Amino acid sequence: MKTLAVISRKGGAGKTTLSVNLALAAHLAGRRTILADIDPQRSASDVLRGRAADGPVLLESSAGKLHQARFHAEHEVFDLMVVDTPAAPDADVVTAVNVADLCLLVCRPTFLDIAAVARSAEAVRRLGKSGLIVLNQAPAKRGGVEPSSVVKAAEALRFCGLPLAVVGLRSRTAFQQSIAHGRSVLEWEPAGAAAQEIGRLWSQVATQLHLTEADLAAVRAG
Ligand SMILES: Nc1ncnc2c1ncn2[C@@H]1O[C@H](COP(=O)(O)OP(=O)(O)O)[C@@H](O)[C@H]1O
Ligand SMILES: [Mg+2]
Repeated sequence: MKTLAVISRKGGAGKTTLSVNLALAAHLAGRRTILADIDPQRSASDVLRGRAADGPVLLESSAGKLHQARFHAEHEVFDLMVVDTPAAPDADVVTAVNVADLCLLVCRPTFLDIAAVARSAEAVRRLGKSGLIVLNQAPAKRGGVEPSSVVKAAEALRFCGLPLAVVGLRSRTAFQQSIAHGRSVLEWEPAGAAAQEIGRLWSQVATQLHLTEADLAAVRAG
């Protein structure tokens, strides 16, 4: 089993949006998925509880119980555990990083988010963990031109010592509307731009975590 920790020391960056969408992407791709919500705000839990269709198993937990949760999830033959984390305290974020095989650092294209991600990236590297930075809530292109905030953010994030994800996520109403119905953007608007972004991000995460169809077929073949 692989563990993906979705982190950002800033509230509102998009941790819950990405945790839910990636856990659902994994579930829809046939991966046995558990979403561990260790944020006392329980936003991810609110989303999944509002879901009509089947979905990832929800575990309402805390940082203190995360090691044990991973042990049990592994024992129950899950393929993936996604951990939705709080912005603080730091110790809880560090615990999530420690149990993770891959950390997804969520960052809006703003000065304060970038500064926070730079510190988180350093912590991830110090703990010897793999990380991927994803830009979220990027404003749309205007007349085909990338807004300077996005260009500058991408440049600054290059110096964080962790790679940027192959795709950034734009600010899109589909992310807000789908979650209000307990659904991923993949289900909400399968042919939409938000679904395309999540599809590409999931594909990169699955590849890095060796959770692609080909990886699983190889495991089954022994
Ligand atoms: N790519 C996006 N486009 C539009 N709205 C977004 C996007 N990502 C997040 N949001 C919105 O931003 C707010 C904060 O997102 P959330 O996932 O709760 O952040 P966090 O868990 O980091 O606090 C929510 O209202 C959510 O719907
Ligand atoms: Mg959240």
